[in-house]
Parts: sequence; C-alpha cells; structure tokens
Amino acid sequence: MRSSPPTRAKNSNTAIRVNRLNTKVITAEYLSQAAQALRDGGTVVFPTETVYGLGADGLNDAAVGKIYEAKGRPGDNPLIIHIADKADVAQLVREIPPAAQLLMQRYWPGPLTLIFPKSERVGQVVTAGLDTVAVRMPSNRIARALIRESGVYVAAPSANLSGSPSPTTVEHVIDDLDGRVNFIIDGTGCEIGLESTVVDVSVTPPVLLRPGAVTLEELRELLPDIVAGRQEEENAPKCPGMKYTHYAPKAQVTVVYGPKGRRQEYIKECLKGEPNAGVLTYRGGCYEDAKLVIDAGESMQAYASGLFANLRNFDTHQIRVIYAEFEQAGGMGRAVQNRLYKAAGYRVINLYEK
Ligand code: TXA
Ligand code: MG
Repeated sequence: MRSSPPTRAKNSNTAIRVNRLNTKVITAEYLSQAAQALRDGGTVVFPTETVYGLGADGLNDAAVGKIYEAKGRPGDNPLIIHIADKADVAQLVREIPPAAQLLMQRYWPGPLTLIFPKSERVGQVVTAGLDTVAVRMPSNRIARALIRESGVYVAAPSANLSGSPSPTTVEHVIDDLDGRVNFIIDGTGCEIGLESTVVDVSVTPPVLLRPGAVTLEELRELLPDIVAGRQEEENAPKCPGMKYTHYAPKAQVTVVYGPKGRRQEYIKECLKGEPNAGVLTYRGGCYEDAKLVIDAGESMQAYASGLFANLRNFDTHQIRVIYAEFEQAGGMGRAVQNRLYKAAGYRVINLYEK
C-alpha cells in the first residue's frame, strides 16, 4: 500500500474559513493522488507559471460548483479550462478562428488564455451561462503533469479567496484555502506572478480583455487589429471577473502615479500624518516616516512577480494604508497597472496631470 502524504501544520489566519475538508498539502511526487481526486470530482490547488490555480473537472458541474464555493466566487464569473495538449482544445470549442491558430502556435504553452465559442460538451456552470469558453494551456511542468495524468479538462481560477490577491506561494494558498479544498500541491514556478493575458478570439477583431505577460505589443505583431480596452474600461463586463473588487489587501491602497521626484515628494508629505503607513517603492525612494517600505524591484517584470506577495506582506505587518509608486510603462507595465489599480479600487493620484 502507498503511504499517505504528509499533512502540513495549519497556519491559517484567514477570518472567513470553514474546515469541512481535510486538506492534504503534498509535493509533486504524490501528484497521482491529486490526479485521482480530480477524476473523482474533487478540488486540487496546483502551481502554474502565473499564479496558483484551484482546479476541478471542468466538464463536471458538481465539481466546478466546489470551486465557486471554496473561493466564495460569484456564480456569474466564468472559469478558465486548462488543457495539457494543444489538440485538446478541439473538444471544448465550436471553432478555432485563424487569430486563435496564430496565438496558440506562438504562445501555447504559456500565460495566454483564449476565449472561444464553446462546444456542446462545455456546461453552463464553468462558463457562467455564456456561449463562450476560456481555454489555457499552461507551461508549468507540475500543472501540465497533473492535467495530463488526471485525464480531465481542469477548470481553475486563481487559488485565492474571492477578492484577495492571487497566491504565488503555497503559504498564501494555505492562508486562504486550507480546509476548503482536497489537495494543495506545494510546487514552484509561479515566476510571472500575475494572471494570464486574456484575449477574446470569438469576435472580430479580437479583443484584449485582461493584460498579462503576453503583452499588447507582442499580440499586435501577430494581430495588428487587436482592440485593447482602456484601463478604466477593463472594469467592464465582457470579462466578467474584471468588474469585481480584486487583488485587494486589507490595507487601503493608493497608487501614486507620476515621475519619480514628484511621486516621492507626494508620498513623503502623506506619510507625515500616517503612523501606520507602508510604501511600495519602485526604483528606490527613501521613506523614513513609513512603518514598512517594500521595494517593488527594478523592472516591471520584478514589480509583477512580487506584487501580490508584497500586498499580502503589508497586511501581515498590520499596515493600514499603502502608497504604491507607479509610472508610465508599456509592455508588462500594463498588466501591473491593471492589477494595482484594481487593488486600489481605482484610488489613483495622477501626478502627470498636475
Ligand atoms: O493565469 C491565470 O489565468 C490563472 C491561472 C490559474 O491559470 N487563472 C485565473 O483565473 O486568473 P481567474 O478565474 O482568476 O480569471 C479568469 C478571468 C476572469 O476575469 C473571467 O471573468 C475571465 O477570465 N473569463 C473566463 N471565461 C470567460 C469568458 N467566456 N468570456 C470572458 N471572460 C472570461
Ligand atoms: Mg482570480
């Protein structure tokens, strides 16, 4: 008989939690148990190259329902179905438009989700009643091995409680979902740190619904007519998940958007009246009056990969208000800006306009 995997000590400090399930935290060597759980209609958290995902059998309505329940996710926010092989997409969609062929060839496996007209096989729960389905083929080794071994199409949103920052470490997953899922795979490789780029290829021209590591500039090389929503419009319902408060730590976030000197001056002034403030610096401001200063890094890639962990870290230190430095940036900067603005509930001080 196989020995059962070790259960990790619970270190959850999340207020909203139920302990109905005996969550097993395993390493990838026990992956076949997690794959079996997926086949049996259970829930498994696994790492991807973007963030951790909370997976279940995407063609089993009852299993998909468990995802919504575990996350506390509104039922009108559809999920992404993850596949291990490109050819599998044909089972899930009515057609593969030419724009999709180009993108799949260039960016799958990888951090790109495509929205297709859905096939009959795909149910109403996973798509929240839409006539389209989101599909992604991740590149993370553990994710691919799990999907392949389970033999199911794995529906998976980010593995956080609805509204919280997405998890990029197993500790963050445990904080949010311990007792709410069957398995958590303790893996590595969430190196991108922000969720996948989402492109709707069910319409012509294709539309960028969520910016991510596959950038608008890169997409335009293949699809010159792609339409990108403006930052504010990305809150609009075509990508239903984008309308909810997202990525938010408990602390109140203010984005200070502007040239380096001005934003530092502005933040220093704000800190004078705030005993419990933190600063997320970008390219190195010095803030003596802040209770906690976290360096977002020297590049937008670094800002992206650390963003969600940094936001959670401010909460761990009981910071009440966070000032996050940000500046104009294309490429990956667009994705960082999108998540940061949502984390701030669009509380943005634009110093370029002043
Ligand atoms: O990187 C990622 O995409 C991660 C990992 C786990 O793969 N997953 C992820 O899933 O971020 P989630 O559920 O947190 O975000 C999926 C987004 C939501 O904004 C959702 O509304 C949108 O994709 N979406 C899903 N199906 C859609 C559809 N048929 N049409 C439009 N938007 C859709
Ligand atoms: Mg999410």
